[in-house]
Parts: sequence; structure tokens; C-alpha cells
Amino acid sequence: MAVDPLIELRDVNKHYGQLHVLQDINLTVDRGEVVVVIGPSGSGKSTLCRAINRLEPIGSGTIFLDGQPLPEEGRALARLRADVGMVFQSFNLFAHKTVLENVSLAPLKVRGRGKEEAERRSRELLERVGLLGHADKYPAQLSGGQQQRVAIARALAMDPKALLFDEPTSALDPEMINEVLEVMRQLARDGMTMLVVTHEMGFARSAANRVVFMADGRIVEDRTPEEFFTDPHSARAKDFLSKILKH
Ligand SMILES: Nc1ncnc2c1ncn2[C@@H]1O[C@H](COP(=O)(O)OP(=O)(O)O)[C@@H](O)[C@H]1O
Ligand SMILES: [Mg+2]
Repeated sequence: MAVDPLIELRDVNKHYGQLHVLQDINLTVDRGEVVVVIGPSGSGKSTLCRAINRLEPIGSGTIFLDGQPLPEEGRALARLRADVGMVFQSFNLFAHKTVLENVSLAPLKVRGRGKEEAERRSRELLERVGLLGHADKYPAQLSGGQQQRVAIARALAMDPKALLFDEPTSALDPEMINEVLEVMRQLARDGMTMLVVTHEMGFARSAANRVVFMADGRIVEDRTPEEFFTDPHSARAKDFLSKILKH
């Protein structure tokens, strides 16, 4: 039962041509909740994230953000979109801007903040992700894990109500995965509402309130990590878990 839904999808459907990529999706993320989405490649996880952020239009159904249906377009959409931060597998930092400029840019341009205030806040956020000492460097001078932590600080700089993560550690060398997951765990402890697509099962077990398992565009299971990992109901989930937990 939803207590205080921040993100809610009702009967959401989407096609890419003949491909029914999101099928009757009903999903709720409550305020302060961490929901991990897992599932085989091609099951629609990225499309789900992009639909929530309206980077992709949906065919039918409704997506609510903090009680408001997402508008189709225009300024109202831009405002609602700014309320949901997104962190991608590829960090997408501006190569020719410093770390501090990367974090400050959107608050300056979109939120209309003053330069001094935006930079002060950006430094706070860089401290939070452990990178204050790197504020004046360029992205190429940082490791992948550090760049992804900058991307998280940049998403936080808009004071989002929720954060979406689409495989945030999949492009990282193994030794850098934990520093990013640790920042995400800390955000979860601080009460940030998060939807996280990841194959990091340790993170799902330790930080998620719920695990959503997707296959072929459908939500097949939506349960606590404890229930999901110890007793997956569906054959699809059992098969998926046996494959990823083997190595
Ligand atoms: N822009 C697009 N046009 C056509 N098909 C797409 C597009 N984006 C994704 N797809 C297809 O939709 C399905 C789901 O993709 P995606 O949401 O990226 O899955 P996942 O993130 O779970 O791997 C895949 O079969 C993919 O090939
Ligand atoms: Mg994907």
C-alpha cells in the first residue's frame, strides 16, 4: 500500500513500433523509498526511467510526480522534470568545464540562482560526495568513479525530489564501484527518494526497500529484497538470479 507516493505510474504502456516495451506498468515509489529495478537486458528498465523523466513519451496511462500528472510539454514539464534528477551509466559531464562549473551550471541556468549561492551550494555537494578537493579540475583529470560522483552532485544541485539512476556503476572498473554505491547508500540514509536500475545485488539487498523485477516490458515481481532474493516466485526471476549470482 502506498503511504505517500512521490512517483506513481498507472497503467503505463509504450510501444516502439511493434515492440510493446512497457506493458501495463503500475508502480509506486513512496517518499524516502529506495526501489531497485532489475531484469534482463532489453526488458525495458531504461525506457521506464526515461518515461518517468518524460525523456520519452508514453502511449497511454498516467505518470504522477508528487501528486501531479506529468504535463505533456512546455514550462510546466521543464519544472517537473527538474524535480527528478537522473544519473546515467555514462556520466555525461561537460569536458570543457571544471567540476565546480559542471555542478553549478543547471542551478544558474534553470533555477536562476546567483553565482555565489550556486557555487557555495555546489561546494557543499562536492564535499558530500567526497570531491571538494577536486572542484577546479576537469572531468578528464578524474577517475570514472570520481566522475560519476560529480554527476550525482550535479543531479543533487537542482534539489530534486527524487533521483533516478540507470546502471550508474556499469561503466566503472570494479575497484570504483563501491565508492559510487557508498555515496548512493548515504543518500538513501538521508531520506532521498530513489529509483535505481542496477545489477549490484549487494546494493539491492542492503539499501532497497523494494526490488522490482522486469522482464519483456512487464513488472513480474515487486517485493522486499529479502522476499525476492530468498524466494523468487517467477521462473523468469529464478532464471535471472541463477545467472547473475553464479559469478
Ligand atoms: N529508441 C528506441 N527505438 C526502438 N527500440 C528501442 C529504443 N530504445 C529501446 N528500444 C528497445 O526497447 C527494448 C527495451 O530497451 P531498454 O529500455 O533499453 O531495456 P533495458 O534498459 O532493460 O536493457 C529493447 O528491445 C530495445 O532494443
Ligand atoms: Mg538499460
